Amino acid sequence: MSKQVWKGGALLAPLPAALVTAGTPEASGVCTVAWTGIVNTKPPKTYISLRKSRYTYTLIEKTGEFVLHITTAAQARAVDYCGMYTGRKVDKFAKCGFTKTAGTQVVAPVIAECPLALECKVSSMQELGTHVLILADILATDADEAIIDGSGKLCLDRVRLLAFAHGEYFALGEKLGKFGFSAAKTKAPRAVGKAGAAAKAQGREKPRRGTGAAKQKKK
Ligand SMILES: Cc1cc2nc3c(=O)[nH]c(=O)nc-3n(C[C@H](O)[C@H](O)[C@H](O)COP(=O)(O)O)c2cc1C
Repeated sequence: MSKQVWKGGALLAPLPAALVTAGTPEASGVCTVAWTGIVNTKPPKTYISLRKSRYTYTLIEKTGEFVLHITTAAQARAVDYCGMYTGRKVDKFAKCGFTKTAGTQVVAPVIAECPLALECKVSSMQELGTHVLILADILATDADEAIIDGSGKLCLDRVRLLAFAHGEYFALGEKLGKFGFSAAKTKAPRAVGKAGAAAKAQGREKPRRGTGAAKQKKK
């Protein structure tokens, strides 16, 4: 496959189209972030990368806390809106119909309508250039009961998660497998005689009756 080589750029896809809330219930902000991810398992750590000019950034700087929310395809318009307007001028919670609820570990509000929210405490901030890398510990995970099954398993496939890829939004759809499925032990293949091999080659399951191959299988 031939490739074109472009200069290095901020191009990685898909990314989450996530919502970050910060501040207090009375004076809170919400904005969209795509520059986010998980960077450590134990202790669980995440990051967001924000420009200093964001209202949300100033709130995080003050409180040292934020809540990171996973979003769904149904929320695509609201997610985009939260990335278009600043909370300095618009009440984005009201405009988007978001309900602020109390978290358990941080003062920043949790958006009730989002299926999953990570309550985060900032551990470090590092200026990178255009953005400030905000590293944080995930202190609590608030999961909607609608995405938890009877055995306590998280079922994110119950919602169409929203993804961001090179300036466009996509809904996650088809499930292709689960973690480790490529390494899962498979049953040893059954020994196939001439009959089985012939049937397989012809795309049939069983050898045809009356053929030598069928007789061989009966033995
Ligand atoms: C899909 C999308 C992803 C975005 N990702 C980021 C991001 O990772 N970091 C950032 O600083 N701004 C990002 N933005 C821009 C901010 O969300 C936007 O400037 C917002 O209006 C800031 O709101 P605030 O001033 O209320 O904090 C993104 C916008 C969109 C639409």
